[in-house]
Amino acid sequence: MIGTQWGDEGKGKIVDWLTEQVSGVVRFQGGHNAGHTLVVNGKKTILRLIPSGILHPKVTCYIGNGVVLSPSALLSEIDELQAGGVDVESRLKISLACPLILPYHVALDQAREAAKGDAKIGTTGRGIGPAYEDKVARRAIRLLDLTQPSGLKAKLADAMALHNFVLEHHLKASPISVDQVYQDLMAMAPRLLKMSADVPQLLYEVGQRGENLLFEGAQGSLLDIDHGTYPYVTSSNCVAGAAGAGAGVGPSKLHYVLGITKAYATRVGSGPFPTEQVNEIGQGLAKRGNEFGSVTGRPRRCGWFDAAALRRSMQINGVSGLCITKLDVMDGMSEVKLGVGYDTPAGRCDVLPFGADAVAQCTPIYETMPGWSGSTQGVRQWADLPPQAQRYLNRLSEVVGAPIAMVSTGADRDDTILLDHPFGNQATGVGLARAPDRR
Ligand code: GDP
Ligand code: IMO
Ligand code: MG
Repeated sequence: MIGTQWGDEGKGKIVDWLTEQVSGVVRFQGGHNAGHTLVVNGKKTILRLIPSGILHPKVTCYIGNGVVLSPSALLSEIDELQAGGVDVESRLKISLACPLILPYHVALDQAREAAKGDAKIGTTGRGIGPAYEDKVARRAIRLLDLTQPSGLKAKLADAMALHNFVLEHHLKASPISVDQVYQDLMAMAPRLLKMSADVPQLLYEVGQRGENLLFEGAQGSLLDIDHGTYPYVTSSNCVAGAAGAGAGVGPSKLHYVLGITKAYATRVGSGPFPTEQVNEIGQGLAKRGNEFGSVTGRPRRCGWFDAAALRRSMQINGVSGLCITKLDVMDGMSEVKLGVGYDTPAGRCDVLPFGADAVAQCTPIYETMPGWSGSTQGVRQWADLPPQAQRYLNRLSEVVGAPIAMVSTGADRDDTILLDHPFGNQATGVGLARAPDRR
């Protein structure tokens, strides 16, 4: 399961909903830049690092090697959940190969953004980029290193000599104390190591038992480090294929790719956004959709659905089925628009081009359709959607070129229409309506 846009598509809700069918949920990239919201019987939980299956007591949650792990953020998230009565520590398995996000990564991220001024990426300031840089440069401190305290101190001193030099002399920021980082890490090590595991081995055993696993993508494909609107992207691969490398499973084990897609578009942070509506339409979507970042609280930029951007997402993810979320946010609009392609200096273009500069030159071409006055809020059967909403979804599916498997009509776990179940049409207690005229 992956986000097909710029993140915040409603992935957390859908992972939580699908978790009934699996024995494990696996995060495979990103870090605590993610903010995944779950609403169960009106109670809201926001998860950042912990997989969104954690509210189901029988499920094991895995953090794969592709995730960059902040020990302090992880432990405070665990403490919050456990204070609310959710047992986490006995059910969370963290790969020993996870690179750690340490205070110098956060300092570098924030100081670099400040130095860039208006040209900033608009990162979450959580140290994600610098931590991935260290991983690729082969100087990361990994969870495994906490088992070797003396080697750890030397590795920290080595990595921090470079980073403190950059902080102090290039970015004019305060250096970070090696001793303090070391002591804090050693204090957290026993709790962290208790949850550490050989995740590929555990996932292999789950597969051997014939049980289902759900791989939970964070961010969205258009924020992917390679395929997104570079450089306004995050620092990991967010596409479906990253699940294999980021968890330690082979691609033949991944059998269904569910693409989570908001019924309109949003983006938080800088970077081009062709269908953005800086007007009352965008403001209305933001207000009704409560579009504020779940991690940073920043307002999200809002606009019309961009099918040309989605076509890129379909190519790079091999999406089996779409889950369209937040349809209810579009209720009451007199007309709705679908971006179906772009006018560019080089002519018409039907797929999001590479790189931020080219995307910034795209002027969307829209199809306008009638909106719907009835409410879709909480609708659980396709047949109960207003005909105009059905038409909008059918057209969206047609222009994107992918079938719709699910529709979400509210933040609550149960406000969901199911059309094609990613794990087969198993009894789930929610509508299995398949409208005969749907496509
Ligand atoms: P994620 O990062 O993809 O998990 O998404 P976020 O949790 O950051 O943002 C999605 C927001 O929309 C959250 O506040 C959800 O509770 C909410 N949400 C999810 N699905 C729906 C839906 O179908 N309708 C409405 N109105 N809200 C939804
Ligand atoms: P979820 O999983 C939306 C964005 C940031 C910034 C860019 C780089 O909740 O969908 P980073 O801190 O990763 O280096 O920031 O990526 N970004 C997200 N936007 N949802 C997210 O996660 C995001 N994670 C990162 O706003 O533009
Ligand atoms: Mg989010």
